[in-house]
Amino acid sequence: MRLWNLSWFLFFDSLLVISGLQTPESFDIDGGIDQDIFDINEGLGLDLFEGDIRLDGVQDRNSIIGENYRWPHTIPYVLEDSLEMNAKGVILNAFERYRLKTCIDFKPWTGEANYISVFKGSGCWSSVGNRHVGRQELSIGANCDRIATIQHEFLHALGFWHEQSRSDRDDYVRIIWERIQSGKEHNFNTYDDKVSDSLNVPYDYTSVMHYSKTAFRNGTEPTIVTRISDFEDVIGQRMDFSDYDLLKLNRLYNCSSSLSFMDSCDFELENVCGMIQGSGDNTDWQRISRAPGGPESDHSNMGQCQGSGFFMHFDSSSVNMGATAVLESRMLYPKRGFQCLQFYLYNSGSGSDQLNIYIREYSADNVNGSLNLVEELKDIPTGNWQLYHVTLKVTNKFRVVFEGHRGSGASLGGLSIDDINLSETRCPHHIWHIRNFTQLIGSPEGILYSPAFYSSKGYAFQIHLNLSHLTDAGIYFHLISGANDDQLQWPCPWQQATMTLLDQNPDIRQRMSNQRSVTTDPFMTTDNGSYFWDRPSKVGTVAFFPNGTEFRRGRGYGTSTFITHERLKSRNFIKGNDVFILLTVEDISHLNSTQDPSVPTPGIKDLCSEITCQNDGICAVQDDKAVCRCPVGEDWWYMGERCEKRGSTRDTIVIAVSSTVTVFALMLIITLVSVYCTRKKYRQRTSSNAVNKTLENEYAF
Ligand SMILES: *[C@@H]1O[C@H](CO)[C@@H](O)[C@H](O)[C@H]1NC(C)=O
Ligand SMILES: *[C@@H]1O[C@H](CO)[C@@H](O)[C@H](O)[C@H]1NC(C)=O
Ligand SMILES: *[C@@H]1O[C@H](CO)[C@@H](O)[C@H](O)[C@H]1NC(C)=O
Ligand SMILES: *[C@@H]1O[C@H](CO)[C@@H](O)[C@H](O)[C@H]1NC(C)=O
Ligand SMILES: *[C@@H]1O[C@H](CO)[C@@H](O)[C@H](O)[C@H]1NC(C)=O
Ligand SMILES: *[C@@H]1O[C@H](CO)[C@@H](O)[C@H](O)[C@H]1NC(C)=O
Ligand SMILES: *[C@@H]1O[C@H](CO)[C@@H](O)[C@H](O)[C@H]1NC(C)=O
Ligand SMILES: *[C@@H]1O[C@H](CO)[C@@H](O)[C@H](O)[C@H]1NC(C)=O
Ligand SMILES: *[C@@H]1O[C@H](CO)[C@@H](O)[C@H](O)[C@H]1NC(C)=O
Ligand SMILES: [Zn+2]
Repeated sequence: MRLWNLSWFLFFDSLLVISGLQTPESFDIDGGIDQDIFDINEGLGLDLFEGDIRLDGVQDRNSIIGENYRWPHTIPYVLEDSLEMNAKGVILNAFERYRLKTCIDFKPWTGEANYISVFKGSGCWSSVGNRHVGRQELSIGANCDRIATIQHEFLHALGFWHEQSRSDRDDYVRIIWERIQSGKEHNFNTYDDKVSDSLNVPYDYTSVMHYSKTAFRNGTEPTIVTRISDFEDVIGQRMDFSDYDLLKLNRLYNCSSSLSFMDSCDFELENVCGMIQGSGDNTDWQRISRAPGGPESDHSNMGQCQGSGFFMHFDSSSVNMGATAVLESRMLYPKRGFQCLQFYLYNSGSGSDQLNIYIREYSADNVNGSLNLVEELKDIPTGNWQLYHVTLKVTNKFRVVFEGHRGSGASLGGLSIDDINLSETRCPHHIWHIRNFTQLIGSPEGILYSPAFYSSKGYAFQIHLNLSHLTDAGIYFHLISGANDDQLQWPCPWQQATMTLLDQNPDIRQRMSNQRSVTTDPFMTTDNGSYFWDRPSKVGTVAFFPNGTEFRRGRGYGTSTFITHERLKSRNFIKGNDVFILLTVEDISHLNSTQDPSVPTPGIKDLCSEITCQNDGICAVQDDKAVCRCPVGEDWWYMGERCEKRGSTRDTIVIAVSSTVTVFALMLIITLVSVYCTRKKYRQRTSSNAVNKTLENEYAF
């Protein structure tokens, strides 16, 4: 009997391996094509204004300047049922980016006069500005569920046109008219500064609102050529807001602080961001730019900027076992009640030295603050800057306290901290740290699998990074067999995996990290009829951990065009030859229910009983009046007081083509930012000089 069982299993195994070979190992949500907003909309045959802007008939294109086209700082929204589950999760992540980097916030609609209805229409589009139409639509259709696409559409809604339609754009880019598909030339119009205010911000090649070089092209040659050739592959980025996008948004809306950003410190200034040395400890943290036992340089600048590059160092070699050094942040005032503390830590001391993170929380009863231990970081790897995330849940004013603690064993160095960031956001659940990264790009060895991780619900998973392609890097999410599989629900329902390639810019607000999310759909089937997200031990293939342990890996789900190699080498994605991929896998099942229409107010029933909404519209109370919320579909919607009128994309888009264009050559001087240390923000040169620098860094560790 036993023997029979065994041979049956063996037979089953070989079957699986064979079927694994027949079906491709990974499912590509983009089909191997990097589709920008404009490609998606064009593929659908939409002829929207400038590719993704919905104009209403009466729009006098004066929008961005007029006060009355602005939204309140907190924008009411409704996530319609038509949205894909993954899109709903990504929209909420995009709102978090607005909260971190701007003063714009979002709240579920509770009957305010004007709100944004985010729905799954055909393609990705929005109107420009607050149109005061009550329910204003913003479409996140198929394949629009990328975070930067959603940021882009909401920037339209907030009042922004495309960057290359600025009046002064011809000073910065050349439009190659003969390469544009005939009939699409109007998408390259410019507006004079009465219509589109550039808010005294220079032309921005890195804007998330800029077309890419391939927009509306007929053939393979670019339609937009940047006058500074370095920017040719920079335009059209869809990663995150650029610095100037933020500056403009913050100027238009008078933002002075963001909702969720709290503090950051790279220790470049002598005041160390108001941090204070603790009392009652044995020694102090020192602000230095190089420690005898390492690190040789700070993390912010990696020693590449002369006369700067500081970090804080606790020298554990000069104190006895058990000695401590305490560093406290300035007083901080939380708004949201949950925080993520991030920092880089370098250990050149003993393997048993540790860093303890405390919170000193102040309240009416506790004017001197009470100290609570949040996390003890032990077994800190030596010889490398390590990224740490610590989750805090503080509601009263507080300080963050870093306590270095000398362990046993010999120490020739100590602990160093740099690039601290504190924001009221959720920490990523896992970090995949990849070392020696550069040589893997484009090489056949560039097939990487992350260690095994567990989601908060207990699902085991793994991330696969494919760098072997010549131009693009691919990223995939795999469920794998894990310890809790017997207790979990299969096929795995609605777990959203968010994979972020971290831009290691020291300032969190200047980071443009590249992020993609995918969601497990329990109803999805593979070609042969089995469930895609079924238990890996049932549908997965055999694989091995580096330590030789066997496991089963489900098929990958992701994209082969996560990021181009060109962009991967830009900004601060690779720092000291290290790359960090942040991973969060969370349950979003709760998003599969209709958003509560409105907060029940007394008399809501009575008001709604007076009217009948047609065509399945739902009654809601807004400004003490009963109004109808009308249903929408792929490319149609109902409107009117009682949802009595039907509209569709085909009959309402009015393309106003004629526009006299006055080009103001205001910016004659192109401000060239030539300092090396800021230059690398746009594009890291791979000159032999830079290569040498990277190598130096590598040996330094
Ligand atoms: C694209 O270019 C070809 C060859 O120049 C031309 O025949 C065709 O009409 C163009 N198509 C569009 C949509 O402009
Ligand atoms: C921003 O400030 C200006 C000048 O103080 C004011 O006129 C304008 O209304 C403000 N805009 C918003 C959106 O608050
Ligand atoms: C707070 O500290 C001050 C000075 O150290 C002390 O005088 C005071 O009694 C303390 N208050 C409380 C409530 O512990
Ligand atoms: C957080 O932002 C600050 C801004 O100066 C930066 O110095 C610091 O390095 C950042 N920390 C991390 C861990 O990203
Ligand atoms: C990185 O490369 C160096 C030199 O080639 C090697 O000594 C080191 O072990 C590598 N590190 C990792 C983590 O692979
Ligand atoms: C990695 O990408 C290359 C090129 O796109 C592809 O041929 C290969 O099958 C991929 N490998 C895996 C393991 O996905
Ligand atoms: C479909 O393929 C999976 C593995 O990819 C295999 O376990 C399953 O038995 C197959 N189902 C059918 C109906 O062939
Ligand atoms: C091998 O590695 C896996 C994943 O990291 C781990 O779960 C397993 O316990 C390890 N096996 C042994 C024998 O160490
Ligand atoms: C939500 O759940 C119901 C029942 O579980 C299911 O029928 C429906 O398809 C789900 N909706 C979405 C958008 O996935
Ligand atoms: Zn757009």
